[in-house]
Amino acid sequence: MKDYDIIHHVRGESQFIDDINVPDGTLFAYVFYSPSAHGKIKSLDLSIANSMKGVKSIITFTDIPGENQIGGIVPDEPLLAENEVHFIGMPVAIVVAESKFIAKEASKNIKIEIEPLPVITDPREAFKKGDLTIPPRIFSRGDTENAWKDCDVIIEGDCESGGQEHLYLETQGAFAYPMEGGSVKIISSTQGPTAVQKVAARILGVPMNKIEVEVLRLGGGFGGKEDQASPWAAMAALAAVKLNRPVKLILPRHEDMIMTGKRNPYSSDFKIGLTKDGKIIAFEATYYQNSGASADLSPAILDRTLFHCTNSYYIPHVKATGYCCRTNLPPNTAFRGFGGPQGKFVIECAIFKAAEKLGIDASVIQKKNLLKEGDEFHYGQKALNVHTENTWSLAEEKFQAETIRKRVKKFNDENKNFKKGFAFMPICFGIAFTNTRMNQANALVNIYSDGSVSYSTGAVEMGQGVNAKIKEVVSRVFSVPHDLIKTEPTNTTRSANTSPTAASSGADLNCNAVYSACNIILERLKKSALEEIRQKDIDKIEMKDGVVYYNKEKTNLKWHELIETTYSKRVSLSAHAHYATPGIHFDRETNKGNPFAYHVYGTAIIEATVDCLRGTYKIDSVRAVHDFGNSLNPVIDLGQAEGAIMQGIGWMTIEEIIYNNDGKLLTDLLSTYKVPDLHFAPKEMEIIFHGKPNAAGIFQSKAVGEPPLMYGIGAYFAILNAVKEFNPGKEFKFSAPITPEKVLMNLYKSSESDKLPSAKGKQLETA
Ligand code: MTE
Ligand code: MOS
Repeated sequence: MKDYDIIHHVRGESQFIDDINVPDGTLFAYVFYSPSAHGKIKSLDLSIANSMKGVKSIITFTDIPGENQIGGIVPDEPLLAENEVHFIGMPVAIVVAESKFIAKEASKNIKIEIEPLPVITDPREAFKKGDLTIPPRIFSRGDTENAWKDCDVIIEGDCESGGQEHLYLETQGAFAYPMEGGSVKIISSTQGPTAVQKVAARILGVPMNKIEVEVLRLGGGFGGKEDQASPWAAMAALAAVKLNRPVKLILPRHEDMIMTGKRNPYSSDFKIGLTKDGKIIAFEATYYQNSGASADLSPAILDRTLFHCTNSYYIPHVKATGYCCRTNLPPNTAFRGFGGPQGKFVIECAIFKAAEKLGIDASVIQKKNLLKEGDEFHYGQKALNVHTENTWSLAEEKFQAETIRKRVKKFNDENKNFKKGFAFMPICFGIAFTNTRMNQANALVNIYSDGSVSYSTGAVEMGQGVNAKIKEVVSRVFSVPHDLIKTEPTNTTRSANTSPTAASSGADLNCNAVYSACNIILERLKKSALEEIRQKDIDKIEMKDGVVYYNKEKTNLKWHELIETTYSKRVSLSAHAHYATPGIHFDRETNKGNPFAYHVYGTAIIEATVDCLRGTYKIDSVRAVHDFGNSLNPVIDLGQAEGAIMQGIGWMTIEEIIYNNDGKLLTDLLSTYKVPDLHFAPKEMEIIFHGKPNAAGIFQSKAVGEPPLMYGIGAYFAILNAVKEFNPGKEFKFSAPITPEKVLMNLYKSSESDKLPSAKGKQLETA
């Protein structure tokens, strides 16, 4: 089955935060936020709002009993503004009322006076002022300084990649209710229940054991709820404790878009040196990450950019420098790929430009520099079981790259107003949290005396199908059908100290923990079964399709009977187990080590057609050979790959986030922020499973959540190649997303008009 959740979804039975049947007396909260991007709060007048009928309380930072601090990596983010505001959308006060409508109405009557301070939205400007959230990070290998003299060509350039709105269907929200003795139970739409627990405990000034967090499922997270679900949950908990009533806080879509952070935009410089025939000798890049107003997860995201700055290429001399630049935008955060896509975009721009200079096809350089078995990454890890070259050759062969090339050329020769382009996009993505200590998980498995099974882990279901995969593990170990197994909601009292479901590691970590827990019980069951069938050799016992086998022979002992007698013998039918990814380590001083359990590889070919009168385009096809390992669930994995690819294409093409110079989000509605829909999706999407067993994954599978997103980068270059067919002499400034507006500008801009200042500012200047 694809995913047991699907049935509930199509019947409208799946519960999300807003579907919870709330008890009588539940109150509703709305968050009043800063209308300016930077300034000093001169006055805050709550009197009119407070006097409105149905308003129960307006909570400000002075009501926080604990610490007004939610920063996870760097303690630089208050839950509620104190004396200063740092971005439009920064929470200032929580209005709690009898209905959500009253709460929102009341917030309109809050008066705030802010003395403006300078607003910075550009990361390079923040860098010039020295405004960084953490010290610079540098990853290097070899000696780039001295390597340039060995290069036949050296190309320098810069590029920009934009932000991306998560647009989870379920907006941020939480429901909190006070329990006995100062405890609080929070139901949250979060990828990180433990993160919510920690933040709520900090805000309330209570130990973590007083906070219980539960998650049934999310209507999507995509990284946006890894850390940024915590503030809303903490606010609901704060209000619940203060008023001793249940409180629901759900962000309306518009507010969610304004108040929450997005994918980090990057502005980067690169320098690449090659031999005449396209061998890359040295690569240097500087990444100015737009972190937003506080650190949030941005330092970890920057690290992943530095890890993946060479994509799937072996480059002997590398120097990558990254800056987390503080700006007056909402704190940017995790988004599928977690800095990896931003890093890969830069090296692909460098290769594109180098290819132009050398007068060869970019794919020649890409192919020539692919990682080989045993090559060392610039962070010291050896590349093992590498599938770069073989996925590339398979893609060339299965998708008939030569035929595509000829077909595209013929089309371009025959058409003036439409042009086609295509691009190869290889990927390589490391699997594990780069913060080694996060690579652990635990699980609780119970078998009830009637033979039914339940399991509970730290994994959060957000549509990626992690629970279907975990269920598959339980089902395989006990050899019982899926419908005998129940997935319990993720809960911090059953699974403590868990990492967020992120870094594509949710399945690997939690499946492994469940696997151990199931095997602990299985050993007890086998022992019990031996007694029942009066045999001696435990290694000859096997469970198969709900029946005990001995020495490959079916016995009369069935699953339900075995459970019942084992219970009667007073043997535990429950187990809790822990898993820690083996063999990983990383030294953050030298930036060397073995940070990843393994890597995921693959190669895609993407084709696009540009309408050269209008600047509009279509992505015609995406074809990929992707490394899934031995897929645990091919239907889910295919869905993950297709969804990730569309999200990657959206980021590179039509999804454009625009803030004006005052730090105001202009694309704050679905009428101004466009995501790919069915009509935009490529007509052809073909994904070939490159299924080589992966010893480091659960049942030899591989993580799948994030890596395929990066194939989307190929769409950018496919479009650019088509534009080049129309306007060959033109030099391109790399700026993603390559919206139809930018395409149009580049189709008709001569090199001369490039030099003129643009009236509309940077956003529209480049492609
Ligand atoms: N798929 C769906 N449908 N919804 C999501 O929110 N999140 C992605 C990916 N796939 C997401 C998704 C992200 S950002 C990650 S890190 C992984 O799923 C997390 O789940 P996993 O670790 O179980 O793969
Ligand atoms: Mo995914 S960005 O690691 O939640």
